[in-house]
Amino acid sequence: MASHWEEFYSTHLPPTDFEDNRKLLKEFCERHNKAGQRVVLITSGGTTVPLEHNTVRFVDNFSAGTRGAASAEYFLEHGYAVIFLHRLKSLEPFTRHFTGQKFMDMLELHERGPSTTITVKPDCVDIVAPILARYKAAQEAGRILYVTFTTVSDYFWLLRASCECLAQFETKALLYLAAAVSDFYIPSSELPTHKIQSGAGAPTISLQLVPKLLAPLVSLWVPHAYVVSFKLETDESILITKARDSMNKYKHKLVIGNILQTRRNRVVFVTPENNYEIVLTREQLLSGMEIEDTIVSNIIESHTEFIAQHKY
Ligand code: PMT
Repeated sequence: MASHWEEFYSTHLPPTDFEDNRKLLKEFCERHNKAGQRVVLITSGGTTVPLEHNTVRFVDNFSAGTRGAASAEYFLEHGYAVIFLHRLKSLEPFTRHFTGQKFMDMLELHERGPSTTITVKPDCVDIVAPILARYKAAQEAGRILYVTFTTVSDYFWLLRASCECLAQFETKALLYLAAAVSDFYIPSSELPTHKIQSGAGAPTISLQLVPKLLAPLVSLWVPHAYVVSFKLETDESILITKARDSMNKYKHKLVIGNILQTRRNRVVFVTPENNYEIVLTREQLLSGMEIEDTIVSNIIESHTEFIAQHKY
């Protein structure tokens, strides 16, 4: 009998640009594997759950993609090749520093006759230049691949395709699963084709459980990779137990627990051996420090040890 996750793939179509993305993933992975490079797959942002095939309405979640986008920059700094699998229109590495009006406010417009030039305000150059330099370096070296999803079904297809390409890296592959993937969805076969009409009264929406992908991911798709997942809770009293349960159940290397309201300044690392916290003080936050810097450094240390232990 097909498992719950296999059934999902057989009853949900891949996204329309799936084959293009698969090709890009394959080329990216082959190139970096040949070069002996380490690679990280970062998942980032929330998934949507459509309520109609021609989707007007959907269920969504809070995730902005800050964790994933910031972490991508730190992994690049440490020399990793990065697959950034993220929710369309969620935050991206580098551009995340210039969202909203911030970017416009950093520019100056000079109109002299028919010629127009745009420059960065002198007092903003020190902010823009280092970020632009890191962005250009990553682009020119082809060390980051951007792949986008919107729905939970897109995410499923792209996660599996990414893993299929990552398997060749064996222990040199790191999976950093920071996306907030929906736990509930409406199967494709139960979705109405067209926009739900209000004339028939308020609809009753019945959601089903999304299959747990972490099981095949660890045991079948990338059995030699270093897999790090995240656990988000709103109730502190269950955070560590839930994170440890998840680690034991799916047999991955590390679960990082965080609480919705404090996720920018506190996380708990739950490993097979122990738990420990990373906390940023108010002063550190105000000075511009990001918790992802420390999270990524600690993970890379463990990944390095893991690679060394599994050399034969
Ligand atoms: O994006 P931000 O606003 O910066 O917020 C970051 C974050 C809070 C979303 C992030 O730090 C985080 O905690 N992400 C995981 C949220 C969560 O609780 O996931 P989960 O318990 O539903 O899933 C556990 C793990 O399995 C996660 O790593 C998830 O990415 C992964 N998963 C879950 C289900 C599924 N079908 N596929 C998966 O890969």
